[in-house]
Amino acid sequence: MSEDPSHSQDHSQDHSQDFVTLKDERSGKSTRLPVLYGSQGSPVLDIATLHAEFGYYTFDPGYGATGSCASAITFINGSEGVLMHRGYDISELAEQSDYLEVCYLLLNADLPNKTQKDEFFQTIRNHTMLHDQMQYFFRGFRRDAHPMAIMVAVVGALSAFYHDSLDIQDEEQRKLASIRMVAKMPTIAAQVYKYAIGQPFVSPRNDLGYVENFLNMTFSVPAEAYHADPAVVRALEQIFILHADHEQNASTSTVRLAGSSGANPFACIAAGISSLWGPAHGGANEAVLNMLEDMEETSRIPEFLARAKDKDDPFRLMGFGHRVYKNYDPRAAVLRKCLESVLISKGVEREPLFERARALEKAALEDAYFVERKLFPNVDFYSGILLRAMGFPTSMFTVLFALARTVGWVAQWREMVEDPSSRIGRPRQLYRGRTKRPFVPLEQRKS
Ligand code: CMC
Repeated sequence: MSEDPSHSQDHSQDHSQDFVTLKDERSGKSTRLPVLYGSQGSPVLDIATLHAEFGYYTFDPGYGATGSCASAITFINGSEGVLMHRGYDISELAEQSDYLEVCYLLLNADLPNKTQKDEFFQTIRNHTMLHDQMQYFFRGFRRDAHPMAIMVAVVGALSAFYHDSLDIQDEEQRKLASIRMVAKMPTIAAQVYKYAIGQPFVSPRNDLGYVENFLNMTFSVPAEAYHADPAVVRALEQIFILHADHEQNASTSTVRLAGSSGANPFACIAAGISSLWGPAHGGANEAVLNMLEDMEETSRIPEFLARAKDKDDPFRLMGFGHRVYKNYDPRAAVLRKCLESVLISKGVEREPLFERARALEKAALEDAYFVERKLFPNVDFYSGILLRAMGFPTSMFTVLFALARTVGWVAQWREMVEDPSSRIGRPRQLYRGRTKRPFVPLEQRKS
């Protein structure tokens, strides 16, 4: 190979002759592995022939050095803090676009023109209602069930209601399933919330925008009129945009792996929601809020930092660190601004959790432990405080993340199904268990 494989190099030139020569010191055998270049980002080594040539599998728990697929949807440069969808920078999308336009972009590879945008919005509107029978499905749950538990089940159950969009070989059915999921997720999320608080479900209103309609279904009651605060609508629009997709993270990889077997799209998205639920992924903003509440006052920051640094203590600074970003998460910067504008609009002069978060961020970014490990605030650091300021209970935070991420999951699922080189995902392992031994009859086993 002639060049240094850096993140920022121009890959437009011909690299078809690039190989890495690998020599097995045990056998003395060597092979040339092709280097593959995307349009930007680190090149990857094609190891498809490695096992056939050498008898080795690769070992990469957590997949930190593994590219699991080729994708044209989202690009992240973690060291420079860059996130782009279809070539558009996330901050530009958050500032200048709206969520449905970003949905269109993720699903169709380009921003829509005016006619395409109107048609897309109209199509989404046509699918916002849930099958009437689904209300009975909700009623099977305890009222104190975690909203994510209900959401996983209800989204999985869509496959029992929409039989005309389950054939993944049919392009029209794939599109219909995609539209249905983007359109119905706000309705499901709002009904999950209403069910938990014992209020009647509110039907979707197609005269409202996507975000405004969701707020109306969530916070309005039949007894009085509800008008969403424009600052809250704009902030939620931005939250949805910022969460719409994020490359091959745990939940997206889960969706792709589930889908690689040919499972129906609703089942695949339900699998993604399950993966998102974990505190190391979508559940982190809830954990940030709990951490800031436990802190009680900024004077305890040194104590929290000391715990986060102590290897004998499982505590971690929630909302800090990221597998890919080794710089400020660009989404966290937008959310911090969003939070400031929502607090101003609501006339909140002092928000103790925000004060604690800002002081904690400052202290961590000046601390050698966090500096050396390149640990910066991630998307979850400010999103919990923001969602709470907007009136959402903590238990709904991951539900909102799932709502917004659905379009990314769907776009990634479709890209996989439409890629002729896709095969069922089937990783191998390094077996460390017992080797073959004879079966011992029960009466001969030691007590
Ligand atoms: N607090 C204290 N130490 C940390 C933290 C943290 N939040 N994050 C990483 N470290 C340390 C870790 O102990 C390790 O130190 P050492 O090298 O001395 O052993 C080093 O930094 C590298 O960490 P890692 O665990 O190897 O990193 P990872 O890529 O496996 O984990 C992470 C990434 C996001 C799970 C982790 O940073 C973390 O647990 N953060 C807190 C939870 C959180 O905020 N999650 C939201 C992630 S972003 C949203 C999403 O993806 O859904």
